[in-house]
Amino acid sequence: MKILHVVGARPNFMKVAPVMASLGAKEKVSQVLVHTGQHYDINMSDTFFKELGIPQPDVNLGVGSGTHAEQTANVMLKFESVVLAEVPDIVLVYGDVNSTIAAALVCSKIGIKVGHVEAGLRSFDRTMPEEINRVLTDQMADLLFTPSQDGNENLLKEGVASEKIYLVGNVMIDTLVRLLPKAEDRSILKELSLEEKNYIVVTLHRPSNVDDIERLRAIIKTLLVISGSVRVIFPVHPRTKKRIKEMGLDFRSGRGLEMIEPLGYLDFLSLQRYAAVVITDSGGIQEETTFLGVPCLTVRENTERPVTVAIGTNTVVGSDMDLMKREVEKALSGDGKRGGVPPLWDGKASERIANILEKTFG
Ligand code: UD1
Repeated sequence: MKILHVVGARPNFMKVAPVMASLGAKEKVSQVLVHTGQHYDINMSDTFFKELGIPQPDVNLGVGSGTHAEQTANVMLKFESVVLAEVPDIVLVYGDVNSTIAAALVCSKIGIKVGHVEAGLRSFDRTMPEEINRVLTDQMADLLFTPSQDGNENLLKEGVASEKIYLVGNVMIDTLVRLLPKAEDRSILKELSLEEKNYIVVTLHRPSNVDDIERLRAIIKTLLVISGSVRVIFPVHPRTKKRIKEMGLDFRSGRGLEMIEPLGYLDFLSLQRYAAVVITDSGGIQEETTFLGVPCLTVRENTERPVTVAIGTNTVVGSDMDLMKREVEKALSGDGKRGGVPPLWDGKASERIANILEKTFG
């Protein structure tokens, strides 16, 4: 069988790595990897390929940045000829980024089967570009691989046929399980002179937080207050960096917020592993902290990953900055949210996907 994988942005890379490895262990499988080039900086892309052991992409579409329409349309235009030339049995798309929906749309129009890895997640917030990408990709997909039971339920409610849906678990956790020992050996804590469980990690990049000056100002103000009592490490996403610069915001005071460049996978995993609490608006980080048992405060009004709240360590704080401060204090005094690991987040999700594909196309 021939499988073509499409990836484009940072959160796709830790998902494709274990799926390619599990398929590579099977006989008579040929794989093609297409990178759309949505993310292109060394520290947003190349570093991840190296650390995660992903093969060099066979094709890079080089689409780069742009508006949603430009980015999506450029992937579509450039991907169509690639997929027509390759004629795979199935194209696998990952997560909810613009590259995901663009590739799925191309394939569904020319009759090439699509498999969606991380299907069924819903925030029920259509103002999020990722939510549009999720809903529409799932409508077009032929095989839908979900990370948790809520995903199955959402898909069934949207009329997706049950025989297309497979609950396989979380492929992002496959990568975490494999690389945690390596991450624990990193020297990033030493390099930043951090003590275990005595610092906070922050990431922010969602348009709803960083494109709105008042909202961004309120979050940063709160983080500055928090940084009076504990160190706050903030690897800054390029989108956020751009906004902070454009808005002329300068938040440094004393040690303040320690803004650093985006980190590679292993260093960031190491920082999460030993943090007292993580503050984020990312999707994947809500899952990683749940697996690691580290309290997570999600600065969004909702989450498409409710299992991290119901079972895991996640608390959705929305725009309630007082709640955020209180939860930080609790975590620092060792009283942060505790939780368990959701079913099938066991490091074997990608093996399940490979077995299903072998049965279907092998
Ligand atoms: C994208 C995904 C989001 C994911 C995030 C992880 C969509 C709609 N959004 O958001 O789901 O959580 O990636 O990072 O697909 N930029 C660089 N260098 C890069 C990449 C981006 O400088 O390597 C800058 C560009 O100037 C761009 C901005 O960051 O304008 C945003 O990049 P973009 O790909 O549009 O979306 P993200 O906010 O990264």
